[in-house]
Amino acid sequence: MLTSFSCWFVEPSARLVCTILISLSNSGNNIQSATMKNVVGYLALFVFIGLANGQEVITVTNGETDGRWGPLETCPSGSRAISYQTQNEIDAPVVDDSAMNTLVLFCDDPLQTNLTSTPGYTGNWQNVQNCPFGAYMKSFQLRVSPAGNMTDNTAVNNIRFMCSNDRDISGIGNREGYWGEYSAECPEGICGLETRVRPDGGLLVDNTALNDVRFTCCAAAEF
Ligand SMILES: *[C@@H]1O[C@H](CO)[C@@H](O)[C@H](O)[C@H]1NC(C)=O
Ligand SMILES: *[C@@H]1O[C@H](CO)[C@@H](O)[C@H](O)[C@H]1NC(C)=O
Repeated sequence: MLTSFSCWFVEPSARLVCTILISLSNSGNNIQSATMKNVVGYLALFVFIGLANGQEVITVTNGETDGRWGPLETCPSGSRAISYQTQNEIDAPVVDDSAMNTLVLFCDDPLQTNLTSTPGYTGNWQNVQNCPFGAYMKSFQLRVSPAGNMTDNTAVNNIRFMCSNDRDISGIGNREGYWGEYSAECPEGICGLETRVRPDGGLLVDNTALNDVRFTCCAAAEF
């Protein structure tokens, strides 16, 4: 008898977890009851259905929560992310600095496909940062100004990636805030991007632009 079926998202891996509880009734005839005694009251089946074709999602814990998650964008099949570029409002001499606005990842397919999920709305494009030749991006770290005790919140200020040859790459970002811990690693590299951006709220809002990012790992079968 199926008594319960439920699904929920479990952070930080953002996996969809479904639990099916099958209740084995003790009622019924004697043969059934004897069988049931060998089974502990309930049998719980945990079915893990990963999002995006079973791929892991890597996250960090110091992102901020303004705005909404944008769409998942992924590299073309068989390619993965090897470089990135950011758009930052660098220490703007204005009251309301939004710091890092946009993150762009570049895939290693022939067209050098780029991923942005949700673009920001202001700032200057910084230099492209590349993993050394032959290496790919596998984990990341964010520098974030935590919300709350600042008159000018900026959320994400900078990002740094670890490449598959254990060399890190980073560019010029905003200097405020603190570096958090590195994310888990994608063994076969990063293949998907989602960004959480607070849209421009105008002059009456403490704008923060980019608040958080998360990446989908590549499928091992494709490499
Ligand atoms: C990303 O690709 C699009 C389409 O090819 C292009 O218009 C855009 O300039 C690219 N962005 C960056 C930052 O290179
Ligand atoms: C602001 O918050 C951070 C982290 O929560 C803390 O380390 C820092 O000391 C705080 N700054 C002030 C001025 O309270």
